[in-house]
Amino acid sequence: MSPERRRLFVTTALPYANGPFHIGHIMEYIQADVWVRHQRMQGHEVHFVCADDTHGAPIMLKAEAEGVTPQALVARVAATRPKHLGGFHIGFDHWHSTDSPENVELSQDIYRKLKAAGLVDTRTIEQFFDPVKAMFLPDRYIKGECPKCGAADQYGDACENCSSVYAPTDLRNPYSTLSGAAPVLKASEHYFFRLSDPACVAFLREWALGGRLQPEVANKAREWLDAGGKGLADWDISRDAPYFGIPIPDAPGKYFYVWLDAPIGYLASLKAHLASQGIDFAAFLADPRVEQVHFIGKDIVYFHTLFWPAMLKFAGAPYKVPDAVHVHGFITFSGEKMSKSRGTGISPDVYLDLGLDPEWLRYYLAAKLNGRVEDLDFNPDDFLARVNSDLIGKYVNIASRAAPFLTRHFGGVLATPAETDTERANRLTIAQVEAESARANYEAREYGRVMRDAMRIADRLNEAFDAAQPWLLAKDAGRRDALQTICSQSLQGFQQLTVMLAPVLPKLAARVARELFGLERDFAWDDAYREPGSVRPFRHLMQRIDPRQLDALLEGPKSGAAAEGAAAATTAAATPAGAAGTIGIDEFSRIDLRIARIVGAEHVAGADRLVKLTLDVGEGRHRTVFAGIRAAYRPEDLVGRLTPVVANLAPRRMKFGVSEGMVLAASGDGPGVYLLAPDDGAQPGMRVK
Ligand code: 2FM
Ligand code: ZN
Repeated sequence: MSPERRRLFVTTALPYANGPFHIGHIMEYIQADVWVRHQRMQGHEVHFVCADDTHGAPIMLKAEAEGVTPQALVARVAATRPKHLGGFHIGFDHWHSTDSPENVELSQDIYRKLKAAGLVDTRTIEQFFDPVKAMFLPDRYIKGECPKCGAADQYGDACENCSSVYAPTDLRNPYSTLSGAAPVLKASEHYFFRLSDPACVAFLREWALGGRLQPEVANKAREWLDAGGKGLADWDISRDAPYFGIPIPDAPGKYFYVWLDAPIGYLASLKAHLASQGIDFAAFLADPRVEQVHFIGKDIVYFHTLFWPAMLKFAGAPYKVPDAVHVHGFITFSGEKMSKSRGTGISPDVYLDLGLDPEWLRYYLAAKLNGRVEDLDFNPDDFLARVNSDLIGKYVNIASRAAPFLTRHFGGVLATPAETDTERANRLTIAQVEAESARANYEAREYGRVMRDAMRIADRLNEAFDAAQPWLLAKDAGRRDALQTICSQSLQGFQQLTVMLAPVLPKLAARVARELFGLERDFAWDDAYREPGSVRPFRHLMQRIDPRQLDALLEGPKSGAAAEGAAAATTAAATPAGAAGTIGIDEFSRIDLRIARIVGAEHVAGADRLVKLTLDVGEGRHRTVFAGIRAAYRPEDLVGRLTPVVANLAPRRMKFGVSEGMVLAASGDGPGVYLLAPDDGAQPGMRVK
């Protein structure tokens, strides 16, 4: 254990409170959780907190569309958190919300201090305003024709057709995606954080480029700080009502931009947590020993390496600047970006619902994580191999083979009578050196190295066990000492490995400590090079992954309209008896029905009901939809036809590929399926309503 007891304040990025976690969140939480657990095993004090990121226009608009308050939406999403956090053994000390009294108080306090420091300015700016919704439009809600190539329905920042980049005000025939109305330019006073202030720039150069960031992150920060000689732009921190956010003091109708109050949510969560522990917030932050450590993804580096440290620095006491910002890459799936909208990747919810062991995923991610900003690829075959061959075949195997000899022949007592004192001391010294190396690798987030080293040690232990042939020793009464020695050495090695893996496999390690070694506590780090005194009868520790479970995981949820829709594909004309009561117009309007042109159709080998359709839905790309209409249509007769498609149906990964929507057809009790068709004049992409 290091002599100085560290005091750590650790966070992960706050997830937006508009939906459940995706696998990217879970990966980040596991990365941080492993780091935190390893610190705790060294005896350090850790406060590990997170919160829902609740504010901003998207959550406000989503709540409005659902006819609920933003608070109700946020509460509904917050209620889904414990299942995933508990399910994957992610041990936050506290989960808070940015829509909380602590966050209001801290955000307003930080703002007032920045203002007093002369770092807040106001300026009048012109922005697009939706006259129907009576609100200023964030860029993402403005579309129009590309000023360069004329492509329709392009976002306000860049054209998906010709890739040119522009400002929303450059769009031709802009419209609000919220109301369809043409936006008007309107002036309003905005508040700016003066990031361009020389004191700010000087501080950020020192903070960001002084060696505390990963090299690739520091390089990015340097680019931003230089910005081709232009330097940093001031940061617009205000939004006009209507906005779901924290009011700016003395500025009626103005709210903090969500990215101002979101990171302050780290402190709000810490404050609430410390209060529950009877620790004074200001005194805690004033303790020079406290290290403030943030884990984030590579997409939000700008906020965390420029805005956030500058806000904290110039707000002054009691705040302190971050000591570390640990940045990770994205998680990809068999080399592709994980995308909920394309139905690729794995769902944490499905993973847990299928009853897969969370420690398999923790182990697999750990085996692939390192301290660099690299993407991590989830590969199903690799996942299966690493868990079954390495984790179980190598590590668990040690205890399952050695422990029964000790319980059967030696009453469970460990001893190494066939070893000299020097040999024994050397063996434990090696264990200590290996544990120290694992500690340093965990500290540097090089978890992959720890897992590799652990598997090497497991190989060494298994080889020694095989070489000793304990099954033969057990038959020879004269070689009892040799039998007890090799099995005891194996189990000491197993304890060492369990300690080394405990940050990644906390539940398994807790069971090993209690059920196998009879401890009444969890392992501490030093147990890696201590000898256990005895073992209890070995009980099964971990299941292998059954490839069928993995298939089920990759297929996604079995229930729900998306699954049925993609498999059966064409049964929009359900019998009235099957209709689920009446729905409101709001519910109906959540279905994005569009006209599609069938530009390709082919049979699907191995699926006698399906036709694979290639559809043009006016999006500048083609979609694939599998439809169960093979009995009724020849592919060549379908090409060129128009038909309505449910365009916002969750994509579904099928054996043959991903189905990205559902075409509509009528059917009755008898045979026959009849594809719907619009009247002449309809065009791909038109909305059906
Ligand atoms: O990118 C995101 O998902 C943000 N909700 C992260 C916020 S991190 C912190 F600043 F709150
Ligand atoms: Zn264009």
